[in-house]
Amino acid sequence: MKTYSIALIPGDGIGKDVTAAAWAVLQAAASKHNFNLEGTTFPWSCEHYKQTGAMMPEDGIETLRTFDAIYLGAVGWPAEVPDAVSLHGLLLPIRKAFIQYANIRPHRLLPGITGPLRAQGFDILCIRENTEGEYSGAGGRVHSGTSDEIAVETAIFTRKGVERIVRFGFDRARARRGKLASVTKSNAQKYTMVFWDEVTRDVAREYPDVEVSHYHIDAMAARMVMAPESLDVVVASNLFGDILTDLGAAIQGGLGFAASANINPDRTAPSMFEPVHGSAPDIAHLNIANPIAAIWSGAMMLEHLGEADASRDVMGAIEAITARGIGTAPGKDRTGVITDAVLAAMV
Ligand SMILES: NC(=O)c1ccc[n+]([C@@H]2O[C@H](COP(=O)([O-])OP(=O)(O)OC[C@H]3O[C@@H](n4cnc5c(N)ncnc54)[C@H](O)[C@@H]3O)[C@@H](O)[C@H]2O)c1
Repeated sequence: MKTYSIALIPGDGIGKDVTAAAWAVLQAAASKHNFNLEGTTFPWSCEHYKQTGAMMPEDGIETLRTFDAIYLGAVGWPAEVPDAVSLHGLLLPIRKAFIQYANIRPHRLLPGITGPLRAQGFDILCIRENTEGEYSGAGGRVHSGTSDEIAVETAIFTRKGVERIVRFGFDRARARRGKLASVTKSNAQKYTMVFWDEVTRDVAREYPDVEVSHYHIDAMAARMVMAPESLDVVVASNLFGDILTDLGAAIQGGLGFAASANINPDRTAPSMFEPVHGSAPDIAHLNIANPIAAIWSGAMMLEHLGEADASRDVMGAIEAITARGIGTAPGKDRTGVITDAVLAAMV
């Protein structure tokens, strides 16, 4: 029987609850489909930071490298540890070290969910560049605290980086409905974004079967609200993708339903799967976190591992329970009730 080794990082707050929920469902899927998921839990979190002074040990990245995939709940406890510390101490180093350059987030309404839009029949896959661009971290400040203070932050776009994310987008579009929307702001940003457009046009020649459209970020934001059903795969830079995927989460009914994967498409290192939401300190001890986003992220992990049937089974179970009105609104059902319903629907 095939065995996959999974590094589990539940993290902080509701990260722990939703990881436990997703893991129970993934285990059920594994036994139904005849494979093993061997989980190793790491306590890396803000609590760990308070105890040790680091979000993860120095050899954390090397430890994770040996796993087939990483599953993360959420990290962050802003009352005690600054967000910049928790983000830069764990999540970002993992994404960068393992070259998880494609951050993918599906945006569609599950059955039984009423989103904020009139449009119901949309199914968008947002692909965000995850390692460079506006979040490269290149910059600095001088004359701090004076009236002459200057802050600069440089967006770095490499041909390699743009080409690979755009190509990933084309591949996904080819496997879906054959439409790719590339998002830039090349009317205003005449170097990096014009470059992105050029690279997209170059790569497009290899995919004559995929229909490509080019949008500016502002127009895309409007389109995701006004005509989301016209979109299939959307590919964007780190910053633009970050913003669009929050919009995507909103139109699909909220953070309780927003799943994500940080993919290393070349499979030279493990990919990481996590719900989009954070640790939600405001509801952390109430057992009302919706685990659906986390379970959906787990289904994405199964698909990445090559267990497509098990993945489809998990998604089918999620859809079966939301269609019955379970877990469809924030705080409506407790975490355990939603998890048990998914488990029951899997049988
Ligand atoms: N990937 C990550 O680990 C990640 C992502 C985002 C935020 N964070 C961190 O999480 C902490 C809290 O951030 P925030 O409050 O801005 O964002 P958040 O996503 O934790 O919460 C935003 C709001 O959505 C609600 N919510 C989120 N997920 C929910 C769920 N599954 N079910 C029901 N309600 C849910 C919360 O109760 C809160 O009102 C911060 O430290 C932040 O840095 C981590």
